[in-house]
Amino acid sequence: MSAASKEPPRGDDVERAAAVLRAGGLVAFPTETVYGLGADAANAAALARLYAVKGRPRSHPLIVHLGDARELDAWGTDLSSTARTLAARFWPGPLTLIVCRSARVSPVATAELSTVGLRVPDHPLARAFLRAFGGGVAAPSANRYGRISPTSAAHVVAELGDAVDYVLEAGRPRVGVESTIVDVSRGGAALLRAGGVTREALEAVVGPLQRADAHAPAAPGTTPSHYAPRARLVAVSAEELPAAVAALADAGVRVAALASSAVLGRSPDLRAATYPLPNDAEGMARELYAAMREVDGAGFDVIVAALPAEVGLGEAIADRLRRAAGPRAGDDPEHDNE
Ligand code: TXA
Ligand code: MG
Repeated sequence: MSAASKEPPRGDDVERAAAVLRAGGLVAFPTETVYGLGADAANAAALARLYAVKGRPRSHPLIVHLGDARELDAWGTDLSSTARTLAARFWPGPLTLIVCRSARVSPVATAELSTVGLRVPDHPLARAFLRAFGGGVAAPSANRYGRISPTSAAHVVAELGDAVDYVLEAGRPRVGVESTIVDVSRGGAALLRAGGVTREALEAVVGPLQRADAHAPAAPGTTPSHYAPRARLVAVSAEELPAAVAALADAGVRVAALASSAVLGRSPDLRAATYPLPNDAEGMARELYAAMREVDGAGFDVIVAALPAEVGLGEAIADRLRRAAGPRAGDDPEHDNE
């Protein structure tokens, strides 16, 4: 029997959710990016259970969610002026800052690293919950390890079932892809993961971002097979889409095409089931994961997805499509495949 066979309790009772956390339990909650699976960031036993439920290796650190930007000093130390500037400008919001951690953070949450990822989500129910709890909430996206992040309470329940003790429920997240991760722990600002705050918006405040350096700790969101649907995914340019679909259809493969309405509209004779996404990057980001889940549920063998222009939120969308198209566990034992 899979854990997902039983339904967890769900609702919008933040006091109940906070009590579950205090008792060492797990609470799924909405944010403006995706749904998170939260545990008390100071409770090592609860964090161990969180890793087990997700099937995530203990070597991959979690983001600690805070109810208010003023808590930065309680959870981080040796803060740079860049860290303070970014927090002041973008919190609450879809930006995670990697800073040196304070003693309040359980080392289990940060995979024993000296740094911690902190973020103040911009979602009324999330913030009410965080404030009711009072502490930091360590939360990865509320999916099983390596799979698509959930953008509805129904996705969370389908994925995790009653392995979660309570699901705080709201509608669809406004952003739809995960937070941007910026490392400000070693001087300057390095982009570790594109996400809900665009590169352009960050660079307007702090100047050109550094590239993630090769010695950065392995982060699950930075490994190729993340955000993967069950169907194989092929990411191509908009121009390549018709030929890629035709080649697969000729080979007898059941194909779904995932692209903006504008791109699909240019190829009315595609030999594939079509899943149109909004033409603007914001709309596309919001719909992307739900569309991938829908195609998966329909049982296609291959999803051919058109990469959007890599400006603004298009950078995060293209990043997630490429990772979904990356090698999977079992494909290549040499690869650190997650
Ligand atoms: O939007 C989001 O960020 C969502 C919502 C729930 O807040 N959370 C999320 O968490 O995407 P998760 O665990 O799926 O991805 C967190 C990423 C991972 O790639 C992790 O390795 C990285 O953040 N990370 C966390 N702490 C880090 C640290 N100290 N140094 C480097 N990377 C870190
Ligand atoms: Mg995740």
